[in-house]
Amino acid sequence: MYRRFTLAAATALALLPVSTFAQSNELVLYCSVGEEWCRAQSEAFSRETGINVLMTRKSSGETFAQIKAEEGQPRGDVWWGGTGDPHLQAAQEGLTEEYKSPMLAELQAWAVGQAETSGFRTVGIYAGALGFGYNSTLVTENPPACWKDLLDARYKEDIQVANPNSSGTSYTMLATMVQLMGEDEAFAYLKDLHANINQYTKSGSAPIRAAATGESAIGIVFMHDAVAQTVEGAPIVTVAPCEGTGYEVGSMSLIKGGPNPEAAKAWYEWALSAKAQEIGATAKSFQVPSNSNAATPPEAPKLADIKLIDYDFAKYGSSEVRTALLARWDAEIGALPK
Ligand code: F6P
Repeated sequence: MYRRFTLAAATALALLPVSTFAQSNELVLYCSVGEEWCRAQSEAFSRETGINVLMTRKSSGETFAQIKAEEGQPRGDVWWGGTGDPHLQAAQEGLTEEYKSPMLAELQAWAVGQAETSGFRTVGIYAGALGFGYNSTLVTENPPACWKDLLDARYKEDIQVANPNSSGTSYTMLATMVQLMGEDEAFAYLKDLHANINQYTKSGSAPIRAAATGESAIGIVFMHDAVAQTVEGAPIVTVAPCEGTGYEVGSMSLIKGGPNPEAAKAWYEWALSAKAQEIGATAKSFQVPSNSNAATPPEAPKLADIKLIDYDFAKYGSSEVRTALLARWDAEIGALPK
């Protein structure tokens, strides 16, 4: 009897696809923060849970495009990090799962607000303000303090910013300009700025790395990414633009129909805990964490001291507005000769 049971069980097990076993101990993570933080976070989770993390790092807009392309046959489980607007678009387009975590009770109001805006298909994990940084060995006199200063002819081809299609940072800039100036004025500003841009990079933080090495003088980035270069010893000065600026609610979403839903939930809850959110600072990432009990790194730019606009996440994270603004950017800015 015992032998017959064993044989039957063994036959049944042999018929199960191999992936049934592999999946239970695996998580496919799409990560949109800096490479170093993606690695540190994945390794810490694996150490604590024994779950193997297969991590891919891509910028926010690129990850959105990948999840969209994989719709119906998703390969990823969790999209962790990256600016909130494309997470909201993914929510609206039904690419991500609705989930109300018990951890919401520990989060800052702006993080819960992001969840509410999306019908609980995404949640805020950190925040940071947009600005720029300049290399103080290259820019020595009258350094720029405002967005309008970046139009100065002395910065011809000396400024870098990312492409808003691939980069959430750059889309945040586009949406910020539209909210500060109105849409037509914003595009007129970006056209003028184009003369000073030497390259539209893929990743949002690349422009400040180029400024740190002196390849370029100024990088338009999130302020925490500029601070990270200063902490590394580069001669970078971080600026909160005088006219006011936008900010991001960096977000996390569960990918609809992902292959490892249990591991995905385990990551989700863990990533909202104070302890997990404190890993960022150890990987030189100086955003403000969303868990109210997590220590904010002392290097993090203080949001209360920055003139922040009342960024309309629901509008600029909507499918219609984001798609239309990116199409206009392609037609009016991306198509300009360089
Ligand atoms: O480098 C970290 C970071 O600035 C995050 O704060 C932000 O969410 C993300 O990168 C945006 O990256 P990208 O502009 O490449 O999408």
